[in-house]
Amino acid sequence: MEGPIEIRGLTKVYGGGFKAVDDLNFVVPKNAFMGFLGPNGAGKTTSIKIITNMLSATSGEAIINGINVMSDPKMALADVGAVVETPEFYPYLTPMETLLYLGSLRGMTNTEITNRGRDLLDMVKLTEWKDQRVGKFSKGMKQRLAIAQALLPQPSVIILDEPTSGLDPRGMVEVRDILKELRKIDVSVLMSSHLLNEVQEVCTDVTLINRGKMLRSGSVASLLNEVKAHKIEVRVLSPPALEVTNQLRSFPGVKEINYMSDVVFNVDFEGAEAEQAGLLLQLQGMGLKVVSFKESGLALESLYMSLIMESR
Ligand SMILES: Nc1ncnc2c1ncn2[C@@H]1O[C@H](COP(=O)(O)OP(=O)(O)OP(=O)(O)O)[C@@H](O)[C@H]1O
Ligand SMILES: [Mg+2]
Repeated sequence: MEGPIEIRGLTKVYGGGFKAVDDLNFVVPKNAFMGFLGPNGAGKTTSIKIITNMLSATSGEAIINGINVMSDPKMALADVGAVVETPEFYPYLTPMETLLYLGSLRGMTNTEITNRGRDLLDMVKLTEWKDQRVGKFSKGMKQRLAIAQALLPQPSVIILDEPTSGLDPRGMVEVRDILKELRKIDVSVLMSSHLLNEVQEVCTDVTLINRGKMLRSGSVASLLNEVKAHKIEVRVLSPPALEVTNQLRSFPGVKEINYMSDVVFNVDFEGAEAEQAGLLLQLQGMGLKVVSFKESGLALESLYMSLIMESR
């Protein structure tokens, strides 16, 4: 399979013989938003630094838009916007002055930068700060400016290393909202994260790594489909009759029913999405007035944890 980013046998052995990245192979499909997910020390930053030519690989290759980063880094990265380390901007410049400076380094004209910069500052919600000096900005605002800077030359590929790390909850939400905007434009994204919920919320695809090794790569939906055991919380308008509960226990896929209160119960359920939809219809068919029916996110979390544990 081919895509804008192709990683082939990528390996990094640090001095002392420590293998931080071990034969990684994956492809970021065109216009996908790929989450590069793994716990601390998994090798995410090492891989991303190799892909963006900030670090050399021991073996293997990274190919961007068909061009090998190892043999022709300048060409390979010409159409790439990246945010790898927490950006340091000149504190006395405003956001627009920062874009004018960084854009000129990339060969853009002032008119181009000003026009595009205005839209980008709007997109990253910094318009009302456009005349303030960056030195006063919070970490989250700097991160948003960094994303704008990466998008300035309209690259077809965006690479981000943990863009929400170190931000407070509100800063995280604000950056994630901007990341979701990226799904609407014509770019392919590779973004590392150690947060499963973030990847689930923002990404279309996921490559899961631990200890330098790849565990899974594919669509978020296909990973979700691997989850066999679900816990579904159901809230109904009035307490169900005992025979209704007993009837439910014998419904295909239902393993257990536990009441949390007289109108809220958890169903331990084995089945894919189609079967879950069938379960909801069944509940309603039995006359239950279902107020809410939602899967607790724990199922994917436990798959993630078990994949990580198995790989140790
Ligand atoms: N310069 C270095 N020399 C030796 N070992 C290193 C070096 N840089 C990183 N490592 C080790 O390589 C492994 C992978 O590190 P890396 O920073 O790539 O992980 P990460 O997935 O980005 O983790 P985090 O979530 O903490 O950012 C870790 O065990 C780390 O200690
Ligand atoms: Mg890292």
